[in-house]
Amino acid sequence: MGDDILDALLAAIPLPSLAIDSTERIIAANTEALTLIGQQAKGRNYVTILRQPALLDAIEATLTDRTPRTTRYLSNDGAQDTTLRVSCRPVRDVGQDGAGAVLLSFEDVSHVEQAGQMRRDFVANVSHELRTPLTALMGFIETLRGPARDDAAASTRFLNIMQDEAERMNRLVGDLMSLNRVEGDERVRPTQSVVLNDVLESTLRTLRPLASEAGVTFDIQMPDTPVHMIGDSDQLKQVFTNLTENAIKYGGTGGRITVKMTTSPREAALRAPGARVQVIDYGPGIDPVHLPRLTERFYRADDHRSRALGGTGLGLAIVKHIINRHRGRLRVESELGEGATFTVILPVQENV
Ligand SMILES: Nc1ncnc2c1ncn2[C@@H]1O[C@H](COP(=O)(O)OP(=O)(O)OP(=O)(O)O)[C@@H](O)[C@H]1O
Ligand SMILES: [Mg+2]
Repeated sequence: MGDDILDALLAAIPLPSLAIDSTERIIAANTEALTLIGQQAKGRNYVTILRQPALLDAIEATLTDRTPRTTRYLSNDGAQDTTLRVSCRPVRDVGQDGAGAVLLSFEDVSHVEQAGQMRRDFVANVSHELRTPLTALMGFIETLRGPARDDAAASTRFLNIMQDEAERMNRLVGDLMSLNRVEGDERVRPTQSVVLNDVLESTLRTLRPLASEAGVTFDIQMPDTPVHMIGDSDQLKQVFTNLTENAIKYGGTGGRITVKMTTSPREAALRAPGARVQVIDYGPGIDPVHLPRLTERFYRADDHRSRALGGTGLGLAIVKHIINRHRGRLRVESELGEGATFTVILPVQENV
């Protein structure tokens, strides 16, 4: 088989692929491979081109013993580092004097690695979050059985703390389940017909006691006409609940929260008719350095304060997923000392 036939065969493979013969030269490569390892690679010695010891060893070994093997190659696609799985296969009767060659194909497995890393991070985070209240509970149980056994006042105090900690664990598990659910159906389009004004009003009605307890009043601005959309009303309610709860919890010192809905027949962010719901507080705000990561699971801008307030750091992750499912957008603007504005942009039905 000639090298040009080899080239033609490689051209048909969608993965970066190349062949190296017994003279250690790259005798054929498809365009995907040249993009990966450099346009000048053909005809050159593979050692000067591929350079990574693990891969060089694998090629050398396969050239010698003619046994297939796989290895890894690290690259960079311009934006980020990538990991490629390289399969080395011996091919007989090609190359110089028909002495055989090694065929390499590169498969980008970065997403698999990333998913694995994310799963590990997630498990580590969950374990850590559960362990903190659990450690406290175990400590108090021990104290109640030992030193504080006959101290009624201390027992009452400890039981109160234990209840708080147990409630925190319960909230965390509840949030995790809710996150799991919304992640699960993120690709399923919602089908209910929803009036956004009603969802917002019912959310704020539910949260009014929490607000007045914190000394916060709602300033509500909404269109008089009903705003219709296709959505999941429970999930949308959860979005507005999480945002308003945050505004009360973290921005309540401002004394007032503005909840404002506006609509536009041509919402620029969606290139379609849309509604903007803004939850605005006048509290301490968020340092802008935190904004890009705010919707990550377990991310807290002010870790200490958020924990003290019983936050699990999952609220905005849930919000983000629900908004994605509704093909909407979330925008956050804040400056330290200037309060915070969370804007939810949702596609709505036109002319209704
Ligand atoms: N309105 C706000 N003002 C200031 N900081 C905020 C505001 N909203 C959110 N944050 C910050 O963003 C972090 C993430 O919020 P998120 O709702 O995801 O988690 P949480 O409130 O800590 O926990 P959860 O909502 O799960 O109980 C919070 O911990 C807080 O530091
Ligand atoms: Mg929250």
